Amino acid sequence: MQTVTDPARLRLLVQQWRQQGLRVALVPTMGNLHQGHLELVHQARSRADKVVTSIFVNPLQFGANEDLAGYPRTLDEDKAKLYDARCDLLFTPEVGLLYPNGLAQQSFIEVPGITELHCGASRPGHFRGVATVVAKLLNLVQPDLALFGNKDYQQLAVIRAMVRDLNMAVQIVDVDTVRDADGLAKSSRNGYLTETERAVAPQLKQQLDAAAEALRLQGPSQRQRIEQQVQDALDQHGFRTDYVAVCQAETLQPAQADDKQLVILAAAYLGKARLIDNLRLDL
Ligand code: PAF
Repeated sequence: MQTVTDPARLRLLVQQWRQQGLRVALVPTMGNLHQGHLELVHQARSRADKVVTSIFVNPLQFGANEDLAGYPRTLDEDKAKLYDARCDLLFTPEVGLLYPNGLAQQSFIEVPGITELHCGASRPGHFRGVATVVAKLLNLVQPDLALFGNKDYQQLAVIRAMVRDLNMAVQIVDVDTVRDADGLAKSSRNGYLTETERAVAPQLKQQLDAAAEALRLQGPSQRQRIEQQVQDALDQHGFRTDYVAVCQAETLQPAQADDKQLVILAAAYLGKARLIDNLRLDL
């Protein structure tokens, strides 16, 4: 596995592969790799000849009061994991190489509508930062496909909207959420949980399962009541709920009585950690 920090060098290496007719996959990450990331690399490996993984803690997607400085950085361990997963190229640029004119002078990508809901409402500017860095990575690598986890369901919807709206020639592949045995979705932010909080954390998935059951029995017309029940249950377990939303699976707008393709999205704080999860449901 080669490690590259310079965007120009990255371009050159991938260009050579493309000239040989090889199919290239990109797995964008912020590092601190866990099973969820490695599943993306694994899926990439099975669909492409060459796999590029990026590790870049993107300052543009963190709000002023968020955990940018404290975000876990574990490059040596990450490299070993990527090597074992048979990644071909690791791109891990310094902030100054990806944003040479500084963040204030950076052009950015604004995806309207969908970025204003849910996590976008709680974290203003977050999805602008995500869309911008993903667009830069896609432009640098020009992969045939790029892979993202379903755990970040809204992020995936934003990236799909950007790719569609800007006619980007890349296939976006979504990969199922990887969970611990007790149901907790793998996330770098699980590392912020204390032992007591970790024992409570699977409640997030359990409450989504309960909401899905209630939706099957009562239908989406009862959406608000079901959202409130989930929120009350989470709060009773010691979470500080940010939002629970029963939505149309594609638009992420509130589900209507006759909607059949649904997703339940939730974000809640447990101590220092802001956990998110979701559940897709076809009625
Ligand atoms: O999901 C993430 O880790 C990040 O939001 C991404 C897509 C790598 C962009 O920085």
